[in-house]
Amino acid sequence: MTTTQAAIRPSTTLAEQAPLLLTHVAGYVAHRTAAIGLRSGLIRALADPEGNAVGCTVHQLAARLRLDPFPVGVWCRAALAARLCEVATEAPTDGSPADGTADPRTTLSGRASGTAWPDDTTVYRLAPHIATLLTDRDHPAYLGGVVLALEQPEVFDRFESSLVTGNRMWWNDCRPEWIDSVADTGAPFYRRLIPSGLERIPGLTGLLRTGCRVLDSACGAGGGLIALAREYPRCEITGVDGDQQSLDRAQRNLGEAGLAGSVRLVHSALEDLTADEPIAVVINNISMHECRDIDGAIDRIRALLDSDGYFVISDFPFPDTVEALQSVPGRVMSGIQFFEAQIDDQLQPRAVYPALLQRKGFRDVDQFDISPVHTVTFGRK
Ligand SMILES: C[S@@+](CC[C@H](N)C(=O)[O-])C[C@H]1O[C@@H](n2cnc3c(N)ncnc32)[C@H](O)[C@@H]1O
Repeated sequence: MTTTQAAIRPSTTLAEQAPLLLTHVAGYVAHRTAAIGLRSGLIRALADPEGNAVGCTVHQLAARLRLDPFPVGVWCRAALAARLCEVATEAPTDGSPADGTADPRTTLSGRASGTAWPDDTTVYRLAPHIATLLTDRDHPAYLGGVVLALEQPEVFDRFESSLVTGNRMWWNDCRPEWIDSVADTGAPFYRRLIPSGLERIPGLTGLLRTGCRVLDSACGAGGGLIALAREYPRCEITGVDGDQQSLDRAQRNLGEAGLAGSVRLVHSALEDLTADEPIAVVINNISMHECRDIDGAIDRIRALLDSDGYFVISDFPFPDTVEALQSVPGRVMSGIQFFEAQIDDQLQPRAVYPALLQRKGFRDVDQFDISPVHTVTFGRK
């Protein structure tokens, strides 16, 4: 039997395939519900400033945000369906009595009065940890960024037209909203890396705490620069990026963080990078795969490192088996590839960077996973 024949499993029936497709449709509905909830403020309004869930009826929620209660009710029900929300049994926040029939197991078929459920008295609240996962940008498990990033036209809409045109683009062709969205997606990567990920690299934290020259290569909108400057105040920090629009946003964000004068920004492609003095630590967060010439960029970085310098690559580990590709992380990463294709690259499998660093003469090369979508590879000159 040929490979192609083996791949078509004749035992798979239409009745088995249909629910699988419907799972994808349901996932799309859940994704859109989460994204609308984030953009409209509905999700934030269902949590207090500390991120604790707040019980609300549809009318309370609509009044709080000055929205039309009818579509707010539709959203609440979809959020309940997607398990972003749950039905609360406690009293709503305005002190009105709780809905006594709020257990969905007993009320889905309609209330004793015969009216449809959920109804005006149903109290919704966010399901556990949803506020953290979707709204806490400083949390290492934050997912709100990637939810909104995948909604941007730069991912799927523009990809579809590029199928015909074959046109590529670069970061300066993207809208500022896209740059901000990518910064939000990168935030939990930096949060996992600084400081706890870096602490797993032998000898590195001592160097950073004492103070040394650090470069965030492809710093984007500056989230990593801010984290580095706050965590390692004795370090001299520089951010380099090939896109001026991203650097302008980094300048703004550094200013807002009160760090305007303390971090240097350089506009350069990594492949052309020069430095006045050797650098002790070069970090690269979710960007190495984008270099048009990864080999050339690594050569430049190695040339700029001082004799024992560290190079740390923090990136997505693109699956290299069908099974991993079909896993939830694999499917999310295959979505990110739609954008990457338009800037003429693809996320790399996890084995690529260690092999590259070894080939380029780095020593003590090693790798660890921080999450299913986040792998750190490092080596020393
Ligand atoms: C996905 S963003 C990540 C930005 C930032 N590291 C973060 O995590 O938020 C990728 C960044 O890499 C930059 N970039 C890509 N290839 C580059 C290259 N060859 N030289 C310099 N910058 C590059 C882009 O301009 C963009 O700002």
